Amino acid sequence: MVDLSVELGPLVLRNPVLSASGTYGHGLEMCHFTPPEEIGGLVSKTVTLLPRAGNEAPRIAETEVGLLNSIGLENKGIDHYVADVLPDMARADTIVVTNIGGESPDDFREMAARLDGEAAIDAFEVNLSCPNVQGGRLPFATDPKTAREVIAGVRAATSKPIFAKLSPNVARISDLALAVEDGGADAITAVNTVLGMALDWRSARPGIATVQGGYSGPAIKPIALRCAWDCARSVSIPVIGCGGIATADDVLEFLVAGCTAIQLGTACFADPALPGRLVRELAALLAEAGIADVKTIIGTVRDGREILASSGAGSPARARETSNEEGLGAR
Ligand SMILES: Cc1cc2nc3c(=O)[nH]c(=O)nc-3n(C[C@H](O)[C@H](O)[C@H](O)COP(=O)(O)O)c2cc1C
Repeated sequence: MVDLSVELGPLVLRNPVLSASGTYGHGLEMCHFTPPEEIGGLVSKTVTLLPRAGNEAPRIAETEVGLLNSIGLENKGIDHYVADVLPDMARADTIVVTNIGGESPDDFREMAARLDGEAAIDAFEVNLSCPNVQGGRLPFATDPKTAREVIAGVRAATSKPIFAKLSPNVARISDLALAVEDGGADAITAVNTVLGMALDWRSARPGIATVQGGYSGPAIKPIALRCAWDCARSVSIPVIGCGGIATADDVLEFLVAGCTAIQLGTACFADPALPGRLVRELAALLAEAGIADVKTIIGTVRDGREILASSGAGSPARARETSNEEGLGAR
């Protein structure tokens, strides 16, 4: 029997598999495919103070190897969430994470304050990819100072654990990771979607009405893995990997890179029963490898220099380039 349990700050999860925000309803919509008690946690779609209609259609386009979306945070707002969603979530036998969004640091603080007393919520995930209306509509996740300010505001408003969800669309994600850790986050979710674009050259029509949008699915896995690894080595709070994960091997790659848990997004559209199946496959893979406790593989990734040294290949200078310390990529 493999021990799959992991700890995310003060929370104990029965296994490291959670749903990703916006791809699995608020959670219980999918309970006929994966019963909540089979997975580590359910993350809600982003909830905002006021209802939001979202962006114009088309808002989703399929690309060769992934999905482009620009939903625009459509949701019915906090009052509806509290009255109509949370009472059901209270009976979900798993960790319930409410993903919150806002247009200003005050919005986030108010969301956390209003939801703090809700017993059904185990943790907040703060969607820092929301545009900062007072800051030229740049996402909070692109500026360490405002990202820290948002997290510090939420921290002051709630005693529940906070996951800060970062964006991969930045030059150096470790700066953001350090900022949200300093602001009081209990864990980091890495990452949200990658900025992308699709078009049909014959009609010159873009795939989605906003032209650019968030790219997700298997193609972003290497980007997400690099971001998650970079966060994990930079901070001392746990990291939740997200981006392109679709198999049990993918899950283990993120854990070895330093993640304590992972989230499944786009892959669930093709197979909503995936989260439960991956938990079973994860246990089987670990048992096959003779690993009794999943926690023992977290962060065991070997350093490029160590591998080169043990294989005798390359000079120390070449090894430094491979380990990519500056995060610039060898050319
Ligand atoms: C259709 C769609 C809607 C999404 N909505 C949200 C959302 O409301 N809030 C959020 O934080 N992330 C949202 N995301 C991002 C996912 O939670 C996840 O971070 C991203 O898709 C990368 O993971 P994946 O490649 O496994 O899908 C959405 C993604 C998709 C594809």
